[in-house]
Amino acid sequence: MNEILQAVLQRRAVKVFAPVEIPEEIRDQILNAARHAPSSFNTQPYRFYWVQTAKEKTAVAKLCLGQMPAETASALVVAVADIGSLAATSQGQLEWMRTRSEFSEATIRDYERAAKISRILFTPGPLGVFGAVKWGVLWLLNLWKVMGMPPLFRQDLFKWATKSTSLACENLMIAAEALGINTCPMEGFDSRRLSRYLGLSSRYHEIVMVIAIGKKSPTYLEPPQWRRPLEATVTIL
Ligand SMILES: Cc1cc2nc3c(=O)[nH]c(=O)nc-3n(C[C@H](O)[C@H](O)[C@H](O)COP(=O)(O)O)c2cc1C
Repeated sequence: MNEILQAVLQRRAVKVFAPVEIPEEIRDQILNAARHAPSSFNTQPYRFYWVQTAKEKTAVAKLCLGQMPAETASALVVAVADIGSLAATSQGQLEWMRTRSEFSEATIRDYERAAKISRILFTPGPLGVFGAVKWGVLWLLNLWKVMGMPPLFRQDLFKWATKSTSLACENLMIAAEALGINTCPMEGFDSRRLSRYLGLSSRYHEIVMVIAIGKKSPTYLEPPQWRRPLEATVTIL
């Protein structure tokens, strides 16, 4: 079988890990694979916190409700949707484009203009007032024009960023699997306390999931894997 497909099909949410260290090189490969996931407008609106020291891991595992995968993992990855990173990201991409001969001055100018427009579209403003105004205008426009709605309010922005963050998480888990490392995604955690522990801002950051990482314990037996039948999850038109 194709190696990538094999990693996808054999990945399981592992609940008990063996006490082994993840080599730095493997860690970096896993994190690098995560950031290669596709993201909306290539904004990569996330930050991963890789928690590996014993002290930090114990504290974070406790905030993951003391779940077994968290308690036994070699590392815990906290995946955070970060809507405060957008301006710096487009600035970074712009600077990168300026160093590349493939991009003409006109392409760079177009990108700069598009980045400015999306900044306006993606800014909810104080108390979401600007978002409400934009919503009204776009709603009227949508009455006669086929168009997509950008995320207008802070909660929409977090939902939007969560999609790209989740794709990066899946990349991370498949890459780990391909490298012989097991994972368990978790949404069982105390979001408020974990955010405070990591020094996150509720204005810009939302924890999407925590991924426990390590080598499956030899004593752990996975239950058989069940999935809904294909026809229950797919509509072919
Ligand atoms: C968003 C999300 C949240 C999850 N949260 C937890 C969790 O808090 N604790 C846990 O043990 N497993 C958690 N899981 C793992 C699921 O239980 C597991 O993926 C599912 O039962 C299917 O098993 P499999 O991944 O081995 O096929 C979560 C999975 C996802 C995708």
